[in-house]
Amino acid sequence: MKFFIDTANLDQIREAQSLGVLDGVTTNPSLMAKEGIAGKKNILNHYLEICKIVDGDVSAEVISTDFEGMVKEGEELAALHPQIVVKVPIIKDGIKAIKYFSSKGIRTNCTLVFSVGQALLAAKAGATYVSPFIGRLDDNSTDGVELIGQIVDMYNYYEFDTQVLAASIRHTMHIIKCMEMGADVATCPLSAILGLLKHPLTDIGLQQFLNDYNKLNK
Ligand code: G3P
Repeated sequence: MKFFIDTANLDQIREAQSLGVLDGVTTNPSLMAKEGIAGKKNILNHYLEICKIVDGDVSAEVISTDFEGMVKEGEELAALHPQIVVKVPIIKDGIKAIKYFSSKGIRTNCTLVFSVGQALLAAKAGATYVSPFIGRLDDNSTDGVELIGQIVDMYNYYEFDTQVLAASIRHTMHIIKCMEMGADVATCPLSAILGLLKHPLTDIGLQQFLNDYNKLNK
């Protein structure tokens, strides 16, 4: 299972990268705005900064909602750096754009996915990744993790190459449950990644080891 960090914050990306277990980054327009990144030049530069920090895939989202606009933006993003994956929403023109990008060898992340039917269309169009938003489903009284399982099963059954990228992850149990469902990737806030480290018995055990060592090694 690959780990992506879901942020545009460079310090958090550096911290996750320093752990040595980071496989990539996902961003979206809201995450970019949260960092105060505005204007085309600044946005493109920010993606380049992220690519310098990590070795893996960096999802950069298009703003256009029409086919021509998505293609123009996506080609520009893809040309920016080989690590860039063009993030495209699951709307009618988005599917057309994903199909186009796929025919040109441009990798895509199909975003804002909330149903197995949307995931089917994304895979048929040739998306590299599909991003079901599990936290937002949970917020709406629907089991997001269950959707991950449905998509994984459907992709396995039909042997689609599209990777299931569990997004909108809020906490460590989301990561564990997505792993159990067979998600290819989990894109997580830094807090959820670091949360996986936590266990009181680890803290107690380590303290005991250090105490015992210090008794004989002053
Ligand atoms: O990057 C897309 C997704 O992970 C957004 O998460 O927390 O805004 O629902 P969230």
